[in-house]
Amino acid sequence: MAFRTLAAPILTLTLVSVTFLGLSAAPPTNYDESKVPSYQLPDPLVLLNGDKVTDAKTWITKRRPEILELFKTQVYGTMPAPPKAMSFQVTSSDKKALGGKATRREVSIHFTADKKGPRLDLLLYLPNDADGPVPVFIGHNFRGNHTINADPKISFNKGWMRNGNGVVNNQATEATRGTSSSRWDVDAILAAGYGLVTCYYGDIDPDYDDDFQNGVHPLFLKAGQKKPGPSEWGSISAWAWGLSRGLDYLETDKDVDHKRVAVIGHSRLGKTSLWAGASDPRFALVISNNSGCGGAALSRRQFGETVKVINDRFPHWFCDNYTKYNEDLPSMPVDQHMLVALMAPRPVYIASAQEDRWADPRGEFLAGLGAHPVYRLLGKPGLPTTKWPGINQPVAGTIGYHVRSGQHDVTSYDWKQYILFADHHFGHDQ
Ligand code: GCU
Repeated sequence: MAFRTLAAPILTLTLVSVTFLGLSAAPPTNYDESKVPSYQLPDPLVLLNGDKVTDAKTWITKRRPEILELFKTQVYGTMPAPPKAMSFQVTSSDKKALGGKATRREVSIHFTADKKGPRLDLLLYLPNDADGPVPVFIGHNFRGNHTINADPKISFNKGWMRNGNGVVNNQATEATRGTSSSRWDVDAILAAGYGLVTCYYGDIDPDYDDDFQNGVHPLFLKAGQKKPGPSEWGSISAWAWGLSRGLDYLETDKDVDHKRVAVIGHSRLGKTSLWAGASDPRFALVISNNSGCGGAALSRRQFGETVKVINDRFPHWFCDNYTKYNEDLPSMPVDQHMLVALMAPRPVYIASAQEDRWADPRGEFLAGLGAHPVYRLLGKPGLPTTKWPGINQPVAGTIGYHVRSGQHDVTSYDWKQYILFADHHFGHDQ
C-alpha cells in the first residue's frame, strides 16, 4: 500500500492502492486502472523554493515563467527567435474556391533570404461571406496540405512523407489528394464563420531521428555545433515554432482576426499545439485532440504510453534532458497538468477518444483538472466538473473536455465541440 497525501483534494481521484513502480525497470504497457502507481503531482501553485502562490501577480511574474522554463529545458527544448531573413510570399489567392464559398490562399514562409532553404507552406480557407477579419483555426497536418481536402487546386507537397510510423522518404502521389479530409471539417468550419489555416509538419522537420540534419534545426546551429544541445529544441518544439511563424504571417493578413487564432493539433501534433499555446501567448485558444503522453496525459500515471517508451521510440521529439526522467518520474519537476496551466487564463480544450487507451483518456482529463486551480486563481471558471465525464458528454468552462466514442482520430464530432467552444470564447455566439 502506498497512499500519499496530496495538497489538492481534487487530485485524490487519481490515487489507487497498488504501487507499480519498482516491480521492473520497464513494465509492460499498463491498461489497468487498479495498477496505476501511487504518485504525487507537483503543485502548480507552489514555487520551486516552496512558497505558495496565492495571487495572480505571483503566478504571472514568478510561477508561470518558472514552469515555462522547466518545460523548455526539461521537456521540449528551447526554441530560437524567428530568423531575421524570414519573409512571406502569397503565392495564390482565389475567391472561387470550394464552389465559391471560400477564398483559398497559399502562402510560403521563407526562413532564409535565398528562398532555397526550408520553408513552410500555409493553406488558408477563408469564408467569403464574412463582414470583416475572421477568427481562424490553425494546425499542422500529417501528410501535406493537398490531403486535407479534395480541392484539386491545393498545391501538392513534394517533400518527405511518412508512411505509417515508418521512416520512409515516400513522396506523395496525386492519389493522396483529399485522403485526410475526414479529419478537417472544412464545411463546418466555414459555415460557422471561421477560417482554416493548415500546414504540413514535415516542412518544418521531417519526422524521423536523423540528429536534426534536415528541416529548420540546422539553420540555427552555432558555429561548430552539430546538433541541438540537451536543453535545445527537438521536433515538437520545432513544429510548435512553425505554428508561431504561421501566426506571424496571420498578423499581416487583413482578412484574419489575429487576436482570435485557435491552435489545434491531433496526437503528436496535439502535443505540438499544446506546446505552441504554452510557449506563444498570442494563440488565443488551444485545442489538444488525443495528444496523450507528452501532451495532455499525466506522465506519472504511466497508463498506456510512458515517458520511457516515447523517448525510446521517438528520440527526436523531445529535448535530450527529458530522458533523465525515463526511469525517475518522481524527480520530474513538472507534469502535464502544468502544461495545461500555462494556457491560463486562455481557453483550452482537451479531447480524448474512448478506445484510445494508449493516450490515457482519463489521464488527459486529470491534467485539465490539475490545471483547474490556476484558472480559479486567475478568476476563470476552469473545468466545470471533478468527475471524468461519460462518453460523448462534453463539459466546458475555460477548460473544455470530452471523451468521444471511437478511436484515435479527429472527427466531425470533435470539430463540432471545438467550434462551439470557440464560439463561446470568441464571442461568436453573443
Ligand atoms: C504514436 C505515439 C503517440 C503519438 C501518435 C501519433 O502512437 O506513440 O505518442 O501521439 O503516434 O502522433 O500518431
